[in-house]
Amino acid sequence: MNRREQWSSKIGVILAVAGSAIGLGNFLRFPVQAAKNGGGAFIIPYLVSFLLLGIPLMWIEWTLGRFGGGFGHGTAPGMFHNIANKNRFIKYFGVIGIFGPIAIFTYYTYIESWLFGYSIFAITGKLSLCQDQSSMVAFLKGYQGLEQNQFFSSVVPAYIFFLITFAVNIATVAGGIQKGIERVCKYGLPVLFMLGIILMIRVLTLGSMYPEHPDWTPVRGLGFLWNPDFSSLLDAKVWLAAAGQIFFTLSVGIGVILTYASYLKKNDDVILSGLTAAATNEWAEIVLGGSIAITSAFLFFGPEGIKTVAESGAFNLGFVAMPLALNHIPFGNIFGFFWFALLFIAGVTSSISLAQPAIAFLEDEFNIDKKKAVIIFAIITFILCNMCVFLLGKGFLDEFDFWGGTFALVLFGTIEAILFSWVFGIDRAWDEMHAGSNMKLPRFYRFVIKYITPVFLLVILISWFIREAKDVILMKNVPSEILPYIILARLVLFALLVGIAWLVHIAWKKKEKSA
Ligand code: ALA
Repeated sequence: MNRREQWSSKIGVILAVAGSAIGLGNFLRFPVQAAKNGGGAFIIPYLVSFLLLGIPLMWIEWTLGRFGGGFGHGTAPGMFHNIANKNRFIKYFGVIGIFGPIAIFTYYTYIESWLFGYSIFAITGKLSLCQDQSSMVAFLKGYQGLEQNQFFSSVVPAYIFFLITFAVNIATVAGGIQKGIERVCKYGLPVLFMLGIILMIRVLTLGSMYPEHPDWTPVRGLGFLWNPDFSSLLDAKVWLAAAGQIFFTLSVGIGVILTYASYLKKNDDVILSGLTAAATNEWAEIVLGGSIAITSAFLFFGPEGIKTVAESGAFNLGFVAMPLALNHIPFGNIFGFFWFALLFIAGVTSSISLAQPAIAFLEDEFNIDKKKAVIIFAIITFILCNMCVFLLGKGFLDEFDFWGGTFALVLFGTIEAILFSWVFGIDRAWDEMHAGSNMKLPRFYRFVIKYITPVFLLVILISWFIREAKDVILMKNVPSEILPYIILARLVLFALLVGIAWLVHIAWKKKEKSA
């Protein structure tokens, strides 16, 4: 067995987990979800989900990860195998914890590369050529290769930024846990916070942009996001959206925290560290994410226009509305650069965490060295990423996002929560969680982890099945012109899932033979 790597310090692993959590979800997805789902009232289901799903899953993953690392396993199959008394089947559930991160990595890296491109376009003034919404939309479509226009004649510039971004990710994970991931997060997160605070202060101190609308101010913008519409609390959709946001933003249910925690030492604390990483993410989400994008877009679009912006989703907010608003303030190109650089850093510290599970799996279960594992990972994800680049307009990216970035999270979180409390057993699980801990949790949380978290998750899953599964599975709402591509995307994802399951099978066959 290879000697497993370890984090160099407690702050190193906390920053790495916080880096994984803080991503595009905090700055783009959160404000859009909040604005669409009841404004300030969204925060109630959001906080309930944080306390009953997010935090428990954070602790479950830190604990399972450290436990599995002790047996030389950095990914879910090996971890589940050990907590389930080496049951022959349970390890296959762990396949989702490798599949999800690869699927997300595939499209996340491509979007991340747009941020890199846009940060350069902002600072060089190319972006400031777009002064209205239609030209900003044309700029984005031209860049993505969806149309040829005065801004871009092909997808080549986007492809170059993608290649560089992909290389940055691969080089970081090739550097290893301490010299790659830990180092990037140690430098990246302070810069990210600094940029976030500068942008927040700038946005909140702006005045109205139009003399004829003196009341389009930052405070009104905050009001749009935060004024509660309590009637939304009766809507199940709002609760599902809040729970989904918690999963995505904390990076729980994906499988990445399991892997990061597997590089802890046997008696490293997990409770306080997990809580600190989660709290850091929430600060970035609510304070920074909740005040920058929507507020500045409000100044530009006003109370009616902002509703359309929020409805049209996170991309529109980040790549159209936000740069448009920044184009209309003094030194807009510098603040635009700050905005995209902030998002790019947030993206990199997340995508490297998405790359690590597959690499750890190859290293741990096939006993191959890091270099080889990284090369295999790079080849496979490069092919998948190219599909997202060239089939963007055909719904490929959305399909990967749905199965890898939404569905797999809730499913895998449910499996983890059940295995942890009911197969590993809450008594052992509770002791394992507290080993080396700096603080003791109130017993109330034992009850939450054992009953509330799994039941809450099952309710979410079952209500999804009842409400939507049939239409999604039968592709009811897919336009016929992209249907073949959606089927192709599903086949690719299925092949990936089966491929990983097959690798798990081979790895354990080998282990049995050598035993
Ligand atoms: N947790 C990461 C994000 O929020 C994936 O973007």
